[in-house]
Amino acid sequence: MSLSFEGRVVLVTGAGGGLGKEYALAFAERGASVVVNDLGADTKGGGKSSAAADKVVEEIRAKGGKAVANYDSVEDGEKLIQTALDAFGRIDILVNNAGILRDRSFARTSDLDWDLIQRVHLRGSFLVTRAAWNHMKNQKFGRIIMTTSAAGIYGNFGQANYSAAKLGLVGLANTLAVEGRKYNIFCNTIAPVAGSRLTETVMPPDLVESLKPEYVAPMVLWLCHEQCQENGGLFEVGAGWIGKLRWERSQGRIVRQMNQPMSPEAVREQWDKICDFTDATKPSSVQESLQSVVSVLSRVEEEVSASPTAAVAMASSASGINPAEAVGQKLPPTTFSFTHTQCILYALGVGMSTKDPEHLRFLYEGHSDFSCLPTFGVIPSQAAMMDGGLGSIPGLNIDFTQVLHGEQYLELYKPLPTSGQLTSEATIADVLDKGSGAVILLDVNTYSGDELICYNQFSVFVVGAGGFGGKRTSEKAKAPLPPPKRAPDAVAIDSTTKDQVRFVKPVMPGQSLQTEMWKEGNRIHIQCTVKETDAVVLSGAYVDLHGASEASPENLTKGGGLQSELVFAEIGRRIKDLGAELVKKVNAVFGWEITKDGKNVAQWTIDLKNGSGALHEGPYSGKADVTITVSDEDFMEVAQGKLNPQKAFFAGKLKVRGNIMLSQKLEVILKDYAKL
Ligand code: NAI
Repeated sequence: MSLSFEGRVVLVTGAGGGLGKEYALAFAERGASVVVNDLGADTKGGGKSSAAADKVVEEIRAKGGKAVANYDSVEDGEKLIQTALDAFGRIDILVNNAGILRDRSFARTSDLDWDLIQRVHLRGSFLVTRAAWNHMKNQKFGRIIMTTSAAGIYGNFGQANYSAAKLGLVGLANTLAVEGRKYNIFCNTIAPVAGSRLTETVMPPDLVESLKPEYVAPMVLWLCHEQCQENGGLFEVGAGWIGKLRWERSQGRIVRQMNQPMSPEAVREQWDKICDFTDATKPSSVQESLQSVVSVLSRVEEEVSASPTAAVAMASSASGINPAEAVGQKLPPTTFSFTHTQCILYALGVGMSTKDPEHLRFLYEGHSDFSCLPTFGVIPSQAAMMDGGLGSIPGLNIDFTQVLHGEQYLELYKPLPTSGQLTSEATIADVLDKGSGAVILLDVNTYSGDELICYNQFSVFVVGAGGFGGKRTSEKAKAPLPPPKRAPDAVAIDSTTKDQVRFVKPVMPGQSLQTEMWKEGNRIHIQCTVKETDAVVLSGAYVDLHGASEASPENLTKGGGLQSELVFAEIGRRIKDLGAELVKKVNAVFGWEITKDGKNVAQWTIDLKNGSGALHEGPYSGKADVTITVSDEDFMEVAQGKLNPQKAFFAGKLKVRGNIMLSQKLEVILKDYAKL
C-alpha cells in the first residue's frame, strides 16, 4: 500500500524554495492539505516577498492539490498555525525547515549574527511547534520534524552561530519525543544534504545540481506518516542515502576509591581507558545514562544498598527493579508435556549423532536402553521463565527484549522420564546489580507428580537494567568454579556440527572442541577450548557425581551430607591463602561441634593461633580457646551472615564453652563466606 496523506494537514516552514518546496509538493501529491509558509527572505534573513510561497501554492493547485500560502516569519509561530486552522480546520504535521545563514569566523560573529540565527532556527521552531502542540495533543496525533545540520553535529568552521542553533534543535526534539510519546506526537530530526541556495556558495555547481531535494523529501514523508513509529530519532539524509545517528559512550572508568578524595591525577591516570571505545555502550535515555553513574555509588561507597541515597532510589525507580519486592516471589507454576520426540530432538540439537553407536540410546525410542540426556532437565524448567511469568513479578519491571541467558546450574535427582508431564515451580532467589545490567537468579524445582526430579538455577541477565543500587554478588548464586591449576586428568576432542550451545566466546561450526577434565573427589571440572584457536569457550563448569543412594534433594542441595562441610572446606582454603594475617587478627583456636537432629555429627578445629594457621577435622589436640556447638542449619545461617553469632548465642542456638568473647571474632573468620 502506498503511503497516503489524505485528510492530513501539513505545515512546512520555509517552503518557498529549496528543500521545503520539495516537501510541500510531495505531501500535496499524496493527498495532504499543505500550508506553504515562506517569508520570502534572502539567504541572510533580509527582505520579504510573498512571491516564493505563492509560486509553490500555484504549482500544487495546478496539479490538483490543496494548498494555501502563509508569509509570516516563523517567529510569529501562532500565525502560521492559525493559517492551517483557518484554511483546513486542523494541524497534523509540522516540518520545521525555514532557515538562513550568517556565516562568520567565531571572533567576528556579531550579536546580530548570533541572535538572528538563533531566532529563526531555534526560537522559530520552538514558537511554531508550541503553537501546534496542544492541537496535536488533543487529537492524539502529531508528527514533527526538526531540521538540524552536520555543522551542528560535528562543528564547522565559520558556523558557530548556526551550529549552536542547529544542535539546539536536536535537544529540543529529544525532549519533545519524550513528552509527546504518550499523545502519539512523534518528533524526529533530520540533517539533510541537498543542493540549494544555502549550499550553492559552499558546493561546486554540479554537486548542487546532483544532490537533489527530491532525494530527501521521501524520508520526511515517511517520518511523518502515521505508520512510522520512529520517535526521537536523528538521521542524516542526502543523495538517496539515509543513516541514523545515536550516542555512544565508552565503558568509562571509576576514578574514585572508597573513603578517598577524587583527584585530577586519578583522572589523568585513567585517561586512555576513559576514552577507549572498546565495548562502548549506547545509552538512549536519561535513565540509562544515570544508571551507570549511580551504579558507581554502590561500588565505591560502603553499605549503599543498606542505606540507599536519594540518587540510588531515583535510579531504582527508573530501572523498575526493586529486589526487596521481587526476591522470594514465586512465578505461576508451569507444566511441560513431552514425548520421546522432544528428548530425541534435544539430543540431536546438542550434537548426538546416529553415526556414533553410543549415542543411539538417546536417539531411537525403540532402543532397549532409550534415555533422555541428563541436561534435558533444563528444558521443562525453562518454560517457567519463557512463559512470561517473570513479567508478573512485582519489583521486576524489565524489558524482555534485553534478556540474556547467563550461567546455568542443574541438579538431577533421578533419571529424567522420556515422556510425560512435569510441573515446575520457580522462585526469584535473588536480584543482583552488575552495573551494566541486572542478574535475576531464578530457582526452579521440577516435579513429576509429587516427586522432585531436578533443580535448576537460571541466571538471567537483563542488559541495561542495572544501577538500581543493589548488591553485586549473592550467596544464593551457584557460581562457576575455575578448574585446578594442573594439567587436565583427561582430554576429549569433539568436532562441532552446525548445532550450537551457549559458549563464552564464538565457536564456528566445524571447529573442534577440546574438553579438558579434572577430577577432584566426586567433582569433575570441565573446560572447553576451540582446538583451532585455543580460545576458552566454556569456563567455570563442573559436574558433581553422586551415587544413586545419595541422590536425594536433601543430600545434593546440601552438598552431600552436611552443608557446613563446604564452608569449612572454604575456610581451609582461605587459611592456606591468608592464614598468617588471620592468625594476627584472631590469635585463638576455635573448636566446632556440628549437630544434626540433636546429635553430634562432626567436629572441626580452626587453629588461628599457631604458625600460619590450620584447619583440621576432629577436636583440637590441646585445649581450644573456645568451643562452639551449633546445628548444621544454624551454622549455615551464621556463615551466610543471616544470623548474628551473638544473637544466635542469646537465642540458645549457639552454645559456647571457654572464652565467650572470642565469638565476636567469628565474623572475621566467616566474613567473606556470604560473598562467595
Ligand atoms: P533555502 O534557503 O533554499 O530554504 C530556506 C527557506 O526558508 C527560504 O525559502 C527562506 O525564504 C525561508 N525562510 C528564511 N527565514 C524564514 C523565516 N524567518 N520565516 C519563514 N521562512 C523563512 O535552504 P535549504 O537548503 O532548502 O534549507 C532548508 C533547511 O535545511 C534549513 O533549515 C537549512 O538550515 C537546513 N539544511 C540544509 C542543508 C542543505 O544541504 N541544503 C544542510 C543542512 C541543513
